[in-house]
Amino acid sequence: MVHINNNFTKLSKSYLFSEIERKVGTFKAENPDKSIIRMGIGDVTLPLPNACIEAMHKAVDEMGSAATFRGYGPEQGYLFLRDKICEYDYKPYGVNITPDEVFVSDGAKSDTGNITDILGSECRVAVTDPVYPVYVDTNVMAGRTDIVYMPCTAENGFVPELPKENVDVIYLCYPNNPTGTSLKRSELKVFVDYAIEHKALILFDAAYEAYISNTDVPHSIYEIDGAERVAIEFRSYSKTAGFTGTRCSYTVVPKTCVGYAADGTPFPLNEIWNRRQCTKFNGTPYIIQRAAEAIYSDSGWEQVKQMTGYYKANAAVMRNALETKGYKGVYGGVDSPYVWLKTPDGMSSWSFFDYMLSEKGIVCTPGVGFGRSGEGYVRLTAFNTMENTIEAMNRL
Ligand code: MLT
Repeated sequence: MVHINNNFTKLSKSYLFSEIERKVGTFKAENPDKSIIRMGIGDVTLPLPNACIEAMHKAVDEMGSAATFRGYGPEQGYLFLRDKICEYDYKPYGVNITPDEVFVSDGAKSDTGNITDILGSECRVAVTDPVYPVYVDTNVMAGRTDIVYMPCTAENGFVPELPKENVDVIYLCYPNNPTGTSLKRSELKVFVDYAIEHKALILFDAAYEAYISNTDVPHSIYEIDGAERVAIEFRSYSKTAGFTGTRCSYTVVPKTCVGYAADGTPFPLNEIWNRRQCTKFNGTPYIIQRAAEAIYSDSGWEQVKQMTGYYKANAAVMRNALETKGYKGVYGGVDSPYVWLKTPDGMSSWSFFDYMLSEKGIVCTPGVGFGRSGEGYVRLTAFNTMENTIEAMNRL
């Protein structure tokens, strides 16, 4: 008899965004003529930057010629991309990351989930509440159900407090998904200091880094002293360059960052993650890595700045419209493409979701889907077109 991993029975039936997709599908089938504006899952709408398209065309041609064909690539990613990452994403912020600390991958979702492979089963994990569901679900799948929640509410300005109990692993996503809020350097430092003191590990998801506007918000956790000893950072090209369907991201595991064996012996996490990747992953496709490399060219850089600028303008449109219409409790949307909105009249997240879909034809994400503290909120994304964003705000 085949036994399943019993931890899967402890999960909710479906993944949050699959459930929303199902509801929207049903609504569309019943109301085929209704126009729907999607502001639910954070999926982008603009086409890929031209520089990336050109790089992919060139790479495809290379794959068609024996002289330039590539088979298996390095599991860690090609050096041409890892060099650029160090040079452009870290050096300008005074952070010295070397290419052998960078692991190119197919998505921050995969890596933030896969990283649980290298954590001891007895690790106690802390997450913010609300939280990107992947962090919780992947830990539950691995049998870590004793999860500590750090509430982020309007009352604490969406700045999580350190857990009261000892924890070994802390997930932080900043700029935050789902609340769209950010942490200042001094606020992030509190967590780095905690991790140093408790020999804990911070898993820092910086997928929305490209949306940072405020200068006191760090672009990388490694801007904080000592973080290179206690933090792994995840980055993604999905929201930076429109790669949600193209799939490319990377994870930084500094060589100084350690975990501990049962007897207390320190182990470099870089080596363990490398071991894991070499065993389970054969690298991101060459063509896709060439597309990612093109982001760092002069034209590519300009094009991605325009792209993120466009979505940031959408976020500003949303914030202004909601505030002008008298909505109380409009958060995020400044350092992030997400706006976190308090539902009116104390409606529950799902009631407001249903109302928005059926009455206004707008898809949002119910805040409670991200955790208990998300009840009474919904999340709206700025990733639709400017026209649809304006139209959605007019409908409200
Ligand atoms: C979201 O909407 O939270 C994200 O787009 C989901 C993801 O990146 O996997």
